[in-house]
Amino acid sequence: MADARGLSATDGAARRVSTHPILGPLTGTAGVRLTFDGRPLLARAGEPLAAALVAAGVRVFRTMPQDGEPRGPFCMVGRCSDCLVVVDGTPNVRACVTPVREGMRVETQHGLGGWGSAAEEAP
Ligand code: FES
Repeated sequence: MADARGLSATDGAARRVSTHPILGPLTGTAGVRLTFDGRPLLARAGEPLAAALVAAGVRVFRTMPQDGEPRGPFCMVGRCSDCLVVVDGTPNVRACVTPVREGMRVETQHGLGGWGSAAEEAP
């Protein structure tokens, strides 16, 4: 059941807007399976990857190359690059404008990112 802000306690631990005043009720079913840093997550069909990660409690999507500062989604419209992640070994994927897909393997992007798994790049 949604509260006055449209947040549901049972869907994404109250991190999803279930009824938007302009867009209407949340659509799609929670049946898309993906992983983030090896952790299995369930996303809703048709939603952006960033929305699925935020709903799952993920706040750090990338770290900065200069100082390792954490970054998470900011603009949510593909402009700021704070939501860059590695998807199936491809770095620099903007999570906010990338739809979820069954079996996606998503990883935190460290620095400028690299091709292949982050685990493969570790020293
Ligand atoms: S949140 Fe700004 S580009 Fe994705």
